[in-house]
Amino acid sequence: MEGVVVMFFMFGISLSHSVTGNAQHYFDVGKFGAVGDGKTDDSPAFLKAWEAVCGARGETATLKIPADKIFLLYPLEFAGPCKSSSIHIQFLGKILAPSADERGKFKSVGCWLCFMRVDGLIVDGPGQIDGNGATWWTKVLISERPTALLFHLCNDLRLSGLTHLNSQNNHISIHSCSGVSISNLHIIAPSDSPNTDGIVIALSTQLLISNTFIGTGDDCIAIKGGTSNINITSVTCGPGHGISIGSLGEDGTNQNVDQVYVTGCTFKGSTNGARIKTTPGGTGYARGVSFQGITLIASGNPIVIDQHYCNGLDHHCQDQKKAVAINGVTFSGFQGTSSVVEAINLDCSKQGCRGITIDNVNISSSVGQDLRAVCNNAHGTSASTVPVVSCLLS
Ligand SMILES: *[C@@H]1O[C@H](CO)[C@@H](O)[C@H](O)[C@H]1NC(C)=O
Ligand SMILES: *[C@@H]1O[C@H](CO)[C@@H](O)[C@H](O)[C@H]1NC(C)=O
Repeated sequence: MEGVVVMFFMFGISLSHSVTGNAQHYFDVGKFGAVGDGKTDDSPAFLKAWEAVCGARGETATLKIPADKIFLLYPLEFAGPCKSSSIHIQFLGKILAPSADERGKFKSVGCWLCFMRVDGLIVDGPGQIDGNGATWWTKVLISERPTALLFHLCNDLRLSGLTHLNSQNNHISIHSCSGVSISNLHIIAPSDSPNTDGIVIALSTQLLISNTFIGTGDDCIAIKGGTSNINITSVTCGPGHGISIGSLGEDGTNQNVDQVYVTGCTFKGSTNGARIKTTPGGTGYARGVSFQGITLIASGNPIVIDQHYCNGLDHHCQDQKKAVAINGVTFSGFQGTSSVVEAINLDCSKQGCRGITIDNVNISSSVGQDLRAVCNNAHGTSASTVPVVSCLLS
């Protein structure tokens, strides 16, 4: 009898210890009332859980999204700044968006899952984010479709291991962030789904995207204005519109992209490979860009600079007085097959592209055609390239 009392007493102590330990730094959305049956609106429970984790003091606070459940969420703002220096989201289950029929409940159309001003955020998988896009693509204008997952002003962000499906608009937007590491994602939507870019980066610096598969209906990765020091490595892209810088200079804006290194990537059945696009009438620059060690499997437009890109005239517009400058761009070590005849297309503005280097390129046709390179106002050098880029041979 005495022994039982002692054991119970000890058990009681250790139990209460672990409960208070957990309660301070570890928050399971289930404890806040999230049901996870794929039907109940779990947004209020997620918001309460977020307030708890974001308000927790200490070095790290963890939010757990448990496995084997589907959480239906309406648009949610996970807002910081948080009390602890790092927030960890242990993302095991699945988050599902409502269908477009319920878009009346979307107060803001900018984003569905919106992380704002959260520094030191770590989100890791193997969970899933399903934007339920098929119901949105046909019925809702692009301007009313949200980005599925937005990080705005989130410095030192790590995102890994998740699967992103069928976003309403972009799958992931990185906006005004510094120090971002993205790895081991699977981003998947049908090739004909509109505007379902994989990752869109704007106004951000110090990003690394690695070991990721992106097959969607728009750009695999889009690098917009105000970005610098972006590394992309071991990304497989296709279907989709390739890895694109731009469009820069839309509506006469001044936009800059500086230091982008794309290495060891594969384009498989994508409509473009390595692409830079700018809109006539804009200012700013794209400079210090390199695409190296690229594998092409029936890729459309493997290498393309398009300085006449705009929304109109089938994306082909006239030169204007101003143009975004393109300076210092290398395409090196491209191997494989192109599905279009113009495998290399350097269509620069009348102001010209400078410092273009193309070397060690060996592209053949996936359908037995003779390939060629075409140039307009491109300046630079080229060596060991099939097809030959005669405009860059001095
Ligand atoms: C990108 O790669 C360059 C060259 O290897 C390296 O110096 C730089 O620190 C890297 N930046 C990021 C953000 O990974
Ligand atoms: C280019 O690639 C083709 C097919 O992969 C190969 O047969 C050919 O030898 C390569 N040419 C050069 C110059 O590397």
